[in-house]
Amino acid sequence: MIASVLPTYNRAPFSFVKGEGAWLIEADGRRFLDLGAGIAVNVLGHANPALTEALTEQAGALWHTSNLYEIPQQKALADKLVDATFADTVFFTNSGTEACELAVKMARKYWYEKGVPERVDIITFSGSFHGRSSAGIAAAGSEKMTKGFGPLLPGFVHLPFAEHDAVAPAITDKTAAILVEPIQGEGGIIPLPDQCLKGLRDLCDEHGILLILDEVQCGVGRTGKLFAHEWAGIDPDIMMVAKGIGGGFPLGCVLATENAASGMTAGTHGSTYGGNPLGCAVGNAVMDIVNTPEFLSEVNRKSGSLRQKLEGLVAAHPDVFDFVRGQGLMMGLKCKATNMDVVQAAYDQDVLTVPAADNTIRLLPPLNITDAEIAQAVDRLDKAAKSLSD
Ligand SMILES: Cc1ncc(COP(=O)(O)O)c(C=O)c1O
Repeated sequence: MIASVLPTYNRAPFSFVKGEGAWLIEADGRRFLDLGAGIAVNVLGHANPALTEALTEQAGALWHTSNLYEIPQQKALADKLVDATFADTVFFTNSGTEACELAVKMARKYWYEKGVPERVDIITFSGSFHGRSSAGIAAAGSEKMTKGFGPLLPGFVHLPFAEHDAVAPAITDKTAAILVEPIQGEGGIIPLPDQCLKGLRDLCDEHGILLILDEVQCGVGRTGKLFAHEWAGIDPDIMMVAKGIGGGFPLGCVLATENAASGMTAGTHGSTYGGNPLGCAVGNAVMDIVNTPEFLSEVNRKSGSLRQKLEGLVAAHPDVFDFVRGQGLMMGLKCKATNMDVVQAAYDQDVLTVPAADNTIRLLPPLNITDAEIAQAVDRLDKAAKSLSD
């Protein structure tokens, strides 16, 4: 008999009743050090007092009105994002997948309104992940995600990731945009070299096409900048954001320049819940904390310390780990052992990590994890690796 919850997930056999910062706690009191943070979501840890206060205060006043009316919390968050980034305008969603949907629609509408409706193709890259909607899986294009779900949404051109020379020849008079994750998350924490990101920006400028960045996983302070593309010193035309911006409350958004958003006039897109008062109250609190030089510089400092410790871990267990990659507090350990065995061995040491493609495990801890917790995490991963070598 089918489970009452549609069985699309391979869940680990843990069930948590409470969270405290970087810790998740089961009913029997077992405490796990959470290096997954709900897959890069709980940027300020579990049960963060400032976020709890923002949410409960809003919950006591007003939950939902719909986008039929003005939502001041939404306007405040949009203003913060516009002030802090390349963007001139923001649309709020409930998830990264919905942000992908709008990014694709926005790019196509841009060309339609420019009188070039045949420009519909979006160049994407192998190993990418943009969500599980029809547009998201077509954008990713991998057999794993698309098999059995055809006919796929047309108009995606798939190129190998980080093979820059393949991009220019693939641009045609049907190309609308290039869509890329500055650091592939699900793909195995694989950063796109800054040179490549700059090169993509140059190609977009040369051909007048739009650069769409998917910062759903790598954005919101995760890499030590508010958004990962800042490291390369370039700006996109459109950017997808989710996960961290809600700190655990379902919230996403699309940021865009005025030019890129020019086709999106009243009635062309919408969402019942997107940007509702509860989500935006939390989003505002997240931005107030994360988007400060002090907070981001702490992420960078902790990242340096985590990376150094992980390099030591790899050196100590060359049979288990291959190398470390990533940026900020978005680290991947490419494994020599099977990554799921490493994730399991870490569970046995009460540490939560997240598997990814390319035989990698992901470490995406809350951005406010403490130095002592980082030391403890690596110590436990060391024990996990030892248990695999024994
Ligand atoms: C880069 C990227 N884009 C899009 C998504 C989809 O986001 P969501 O699961 O919130 O729909 C994810 C989720 O993991 C992601 O990592």
